This record gives sequence, C-alpha cells and structure tokens, in this order.
Amino acid sequence: MQTPFPLLPPNASSVATEMDLLYLFITAVSAFFVVLVAALVLFFALKYRRRHPEEVGADIHGSLVLELTWTIIPLVLSLVMFVWGADLFFRLARPPQDSMDIFVVGKQWMWKVQHPSGVREINEMHVPTGRNVRIFLGSEDVLHDYSIPAFRVKMDAVPGKITTMWFNATQPGTYHIFCAEFCGTKHSGMIGSVIAMAPEDYERWLSGGSGSALNSGEKLFNDPAYACVTCHKADSSGRGPTLHGVYGSTVPLVGGGKVVADENYLRESIMNPTAKVVEGYLPIMPSFQGTINEENLMQLIAYIKTLKPAGTSGGK
Ligand code: CUA
Repeated sequence: MQTPFPLLPPNASSVATEMDLLYLFITAVSAFFVVLVAALVLFFALKYRRRHPEEVGADIHGSLVLELTWTIIPLVLSLVMFVWGADLFFRLARPPQDSMDIFVVGKQWMWKVQHPSGVREINEMHVPTGRNVRIFLGSEDVLHDYSIPAFRVKMDAVPGKITTMWFNATQPGTYHIFCAEFCGTKHSGMIGSVIAMAPEDYERWLSGGSGSALNSGEKLFNDPAYACVTCHKADSSGRGPTLHGVYGSTVPLVGGGKVVADENYLRESIMNPTAKVVEGYLPIMPSFQGTINEENLMQLIAYIKTLKPAGTSGGK
C-alpha cells in the first residue's frame, strides 16, 4: 500500500501506520512552534520597536499565568511524545513469543539469510504476510545495519553478539533492504529485497528450496572438527553440561551468579567459554573464536535450541 504522503516509503508492516503517525505528530508540533516563535519574534520586534531616542520600556515583573502556560503546555506535549515513543519502542524491542525465526548474517558486502527450515538465500528474504517474524542478526566482520524502511524497522548487526528485531508484514510485495551503517567501500551496494508473500505462496516457495539449518547445526554439533557432542552428552555424564533443555533455562554459574540461556549466552559460551562457567564444571572448553564462522554459529545455536530436556519427546 502506498502511503498518502509520497515522500514516505510503502506502508507494509503492522507498525508502519503508527510509526508514521508518531513521526507526523512530532513534526507537526515542532513545525507549529517554529512558526509561532518566529512569527512572534517578528511581530513583537515591529510592535515594540523604539520610536524615539528617549523612549523607556515598561517595567514588567513577570506573569504567573503566562509562565505556567508556557511551561505546562510544552511539558504535556513532550510527555505525549515520550510515552507514545517509549511504548512503541518497547513493543518493537520485544519480539512476540509466537514469532517465526529467520537468521541473518551481514558480511562485507552481502546479507546471508537462513529460514527455519534451512532454506538459504543471499540479499533476498522471503517472508509470509500476517505472521510475526523475528530476525536474529549477526555480523561476520564489521558493524552493519539491517534496515527495511517499508516495515519501519532497522537494527544494528554487531560483530560479537546477536541482536534481534521483528515485524509483521501486512502487504504482499517486494521492498528494499538497505545496510544503514557505513561498513566499507561497497556499503552502498549492500542492498537487497524483502519479498512478502501470502502464507500459501511462502510455503510453496520454501518447499522449492533445499538444505536445513537444523540439520547443518546437528552436523556441526557432531562434526569431529568441533566435537561438541563428545563433552556435551544428552545425559549429564559428559565433561561439559548437557545442552538438552538448556535454551531458555536459568543456568547457575561458578561463583554464585545465574544467567538465562538465550542466544547471546549460547554464542558467548562457544566463542569465549570461560566467561561464564556452569557451576559444577571445569573451565576446560576451548574457544571456537576464529574456528567457526558466524553463519555456522547461528546454525549451531538454532540446533541447540531444538534440544529438549532429557526424558521428554522431541529431542535427540
Ligand atoms: Cu554493511 Cu553498510
């Protein structure tokens, strides 16, 4: 859907209209006061100009009504901006629980995208409409920024951590992806397309793809080059803690702390294993920094997330 205001990008996500309204509100309030103040400066300069050299201005000692008015009205207006903006920000910062996950890795100078079923693409991202989509974002090298103006969302891709963003596409269509962080000589060419499709078209598109993130993650987990499985056994008999059911759980640490095992904790534990050592275990795990790339790291994390606690069905 094209927006009524032609300077704005297409309006294609569940938050786009509200984002535009907030933007319009802030712009309108600012414009109103710019015009008001400028007009009053001119008007008063003319009206109260000095008419002859002996003229002395009236002695005024303030006005409580006037001062309260120009304090309270701007206060209320700026609080509306703050509360509305913060509310929208928090909703955008918290992906809904029922989201479908897509992994995106930025790299000089391309976007690598991987769907939950394992289908991969480069510089294109197919998504179903009407569905909450959460993006797990990583970077292979430097800072990038995954920006989809038609959805009114953007998020930094930061080397060394995983960031998230989410959207719900409302209109089928093809929209721009930009890198919105200067990342080197070909930054301006780091662009792509989001293709929003009706859910049945998306399913049809997916079934035409190949490969599986979960399978590649499982392969990596058992790969002798990484050998995760030799220490992280399904039961608790390994030299490392079992990873079954670890995702989303609260992990007790050596030294008495606790951490919730989210994507970033799993990432850190692979790249810098001694940063947070699980209680009851020794800091013997080697770092995989430089050994595993960001894309494989995402696959491994996607696989670890599927490991159900021992004794329940669905795990391996
Ligand atoms: Cu990547 Cu700019």
